[in-house]
Amino acid sequence: MAEKDTFILAIESSCDDTSAAVCKNETILSNVVANQEVHKLYGGVVPELASRAHMKHILPVVKTALDKAQTRIEDIDAIAFTKGPGLLGSLLVGVSFAKSIALALNKPLVDVNHMYAHVLAHFIDDESKSKPEFPFICLTVSGGHTQLILVRDYLEMEVIGSTLDDAAGEAFDKIAKLLGFPYPGGPLIDRHAKQGDATRFKFNKPRIEGYNYSFSGLKTSVMNFLNSETQKDPDFIKNNLEDLCSSVQHVIIEILFDKLEKAIKDFKIKDIAVAGGVSANSGLRSGLEGLGIQYGINAHIPKFEYCTDNAAMIAITGKFMFEKRMFADQRVSASARLPFRP
Ligand code: KG4
Ligand code: ZN
Repeated sequence: MAEKDTFILAIESSCDDTSAAVCKNETILSNVVANQEVHKLYGGVVPELASRAHMKHILPVVKTALDKAQTRIEDIDAIAFTKGPGLLGSLLVGVSFAKSIALALNKPLVDVNHMYAHVLAHFIDDESKSKPEFPFICLTVSGGHTQLILVRDYLEMEVIGSTLDDAAGEAFDKIAKLLGFPYPGGPLIDRHAKQGDATRFKFNKPRIEGYNYSFSGLKTSVMNFLNSETQKDPDFIKNNLEDLCSSVQHVIIEILFDKLEKAIKDFKIKDIAVAGGVSANSGLRSGLEGLGIQYGINAHIPKFEYCTDNAAMIAITGKFMFEKRMFADQRVSASARLPFRP
């Protein structure tokens, strides 16, 4: 007899995107994301405004996800939600909503770790892409996180390196701010870098043993360099914007790849992957493909919509946890600093 299909409704609200998705086994039937424009005015995510916007968006987003998936809520097998890590007020909106649906409909709840979900986005069915084989190394780079993860199985992962201060996305955004770009400036650095000369300006890389990262020193050295150059020429940034963006992007990718290459060699890995919002960066994507060719290994990059925060990755993680009967009960709550475990 054929196995029964599994339908998961997933909710993600850890930062400033409200998202809901429905999956049927490993296929995503819908993935709806409502972005919050309000934070642009403030140059960064304002937690109180984020949770209010989640409250406004969550019901229409979940309803749209079910409609698009042409799935009735009664036919859902479990409700998956992001437990953490993230902004507490934002997480609480998703957690409370998931718990109330589960209670009303008597469905099981699955509490998902957002950082596991970024990695497991690679296992969403996509005909155009092959899936990584275990064990592999995943570099998760977003506005809030920079982690080098050894992935042994779907729910068996180990963080071998992480940032000691700023995340890679935060470095992009903070340096973008120094260059005069609005928040989030990462994508704008990427766009301007395409026309620039990456070798024009040299910035020092941190010297840290092992697999850990640091980005705050780079931000300070870019700031000091810009301050001294603009004293000599007030239009320095404007006149050199492309080369500055290209040089900054280049050094951030070099910092990320130095440790990734060390891990490839140390663990004799055959598959590498990237995850998180910064994996949308064009230099990082082409660089990863280059590393794959250089080391004769497979490089995996998720579809853009599964790189940034989304509920599809929560759904696929929920599906793997559902199969193992890893359920949460109604006492479950959000955890802003959730440790790295499923
Ligand atoms: O995963 P994500 O959507 O949200 C977090 O969980 O943080 O990542 C957002 C981060 C921001 O810092 C943004 O500037 C960065 O990803 N980002 C990029 C690019 N697209 C998004 N950074 C560099 N180049 C890009 N193309
Ligand atoms: Zn994220």
